[in-house]
Amino acid sequence: MLRILRPVGHSTDDKDIKAAAAILKSGGVVAFPTETVYGLGARFDNEAAVAKVFAAKGRPRDNPLIAHVSHPRQLQQLVTGMNALEEKLMLAFWPGPLTLVLPKTAAVPYIVTGGLETVGVRMPGHQLALSLITAAEVPIVAPSANISGRPSPTSARHVAQDLFGRIDALVDGGDTPLGLESTVVQVRGDVINVLRPGGVTREMLASETGCHVISSVHHEDSASAPIAPGMKYTHYAPRALVTLYEGQAIVDIGSDARSLQQSNVSVAVIAFADTLSTLPRGVNIYTLGDRGSVDIAARRLYAYLREADDLGVQQILVEGLESKGLGEAVMNRLYKAATTVVRR
Ligand code: TXA
Ligand code: MG
Repeated sequence: MLRILRPVGHSTDDKDIKAAAAILKSGGVVAFPTETVYGLGARFDNEAAVAKVFAAKGRPRDNPLIAHVSHPRQLQQLVTGMNALEEKLMLAFWPGPLTLVLPKTAAVPYIVTGGLETVGVRMPGHQLALSLITAAEVPIVAPSANISGRPSPTSARHVAQDLFGRIDALVDGGDTPLGLESTVVQVRGDVINVLRPGGVTREMLASETGCHVISSVHHEDSASAPIAPGMKYTHYAPRALVTLYEGQAIVDIGSDARSLQQSNVSVAVIAFADTLSTLPRGVNIYTLGDRGSVDIAARRLYAYLREADDLGVQQILVEGLESKGLGEAVMNRLYKAATTVVRR
């Protein structure tokens, strides 16, 4: 059973938004769209509701949730304060895909923060999300609305695929415009530390503040030698084996797809148009558009990974892109999805 709500309007008066808000208020869990990906919401101050979110996703209890507000004044309930740089970031990028990690108040239960003294907070840039939070009259914690370890959902259909029977309602607001999660940052002194790259790029953070931006994201992309097959990340992964091609190795995608096909392995390729034109017939192709553009990659990546899985494809070959701007977030997700990275 899954109650699907399709609001016609995006305001707090809409009857479907009111219905979803009432479920949240009374301790239910509701999936809803944001500008990044769909989230699975619960009121932040109801431990039983938050526990349902962890259970529905199969999420480890030590992985903290982001609390979403529809107005900065709701932060009083969530955080003890913010310094000038944090406030500058908030004013520059909210509503939008930036999560600030700040010291939590006593009102935020430890189940939300995975036992930490800090809480991630953001104001989403999506009118449906904002109206829902306003109508619920309380900040809403929401991780991405996927089963833990699966690609994040960028459409209501993806949410239903993963969470049917596990949640109280789903607000369908169509495809999410950005397609990748928010950037998670923590300010230390006058340095901005990126914990997860996302919709607000490192370049945007630096130019807005003039501050030094560092990254404490861990992936093994700094190795110069090809990385051994079998290396498996646990996030954002489809069921198929994913091979990520970088640098000169990209020219091998066509011939690798052909040899896999000859061994009766079903293949999908996610690549720029130039590369796709070199592929043999029978390969499932997903375009990233023109080389150099990162928009389609950001918006469509998760949907492509899911679609390839739905087709029952055994191997997905993906063309990597330059890790700058929004490309940094795209590549971060690709490293996590990849079983093998081929680079030369
Ligand atoms: O765009 C998004 O951020 C989406 C939408 C729904 O808002 N949400 C999302 O939530 O991606 P989730 O739970 O899938 O990812 C939250 C990330 C995790 O990597 C988590 O570890 C980190 O934020 N995080 C949350 N609170 C934190 C904290 N107090 N300290 C450090 N990292 C934190
Ligand atoms: Mg997630």
